[in-house]
Amino acid sequence: MILPVLQYPDERLRRKSQPVDEITDEIRELASNMLETMYDEEGIGLAAPQVGHFIRMIVIDISPCYETEEGNVEDNGEPPMPMVLINPELSFSGATVKSEEGCLSVPNSYRATVPRREKVSLKALSLDGDPIELEADGMLAICLQHECDHLDGKLFIDYISRLKLNLYKASLRKLVKA
Ligand code: NI
Repeated sequence: MILPVLQYPDERLRRKSQPVDEITDEIRELASNMLETMYDEEGIGLAAPQVGHFIRMIVIDISPCYETEEGNVEDNGEPPMPMVLINPELSFSGATVKSEEGCLSVPNSYRATVPRREKVSLKALSLDGDPIELEADGMLAICLQHECDHLDGKLFIDYISRLKLNLYKASLRKLVKA
């Protein structure tokens, strides 16, 4: 089932999500619906709070894309490789890198360049409750940082300058009036 995705400036996107205590059928169904929604919207990640569930669960699939030299994400025809991560925790390393991002919760396909860390170590649980530990760099590292931010009520536009943010907000107001 495709779920409606909350849109900025919806205040619910600012809520801090709670850890998952038990992986129930309800959680499994939500994970499956989140993946369906993410693929339908052609996103590479989605966090539970974006669909109104304030629990620490994210889904990611970066397999069908690659990053071009210009930093764009393009389809590479690879088969999908969905990841469901429960209670993800990141630790950061490496340099600060520039990352051009958009978000399914930020209207008008707005994109901006934000700072991220080059590498992350991830600890999480799988949908079966098995521990997952992995080191990531490249697009996976960026995507993990973006999605985990959602669990703490943070959006990528929080990293842009006040001037850029105001310009973006003004463009949204104009659209509403039109
Ligand atoms: Ni997002």
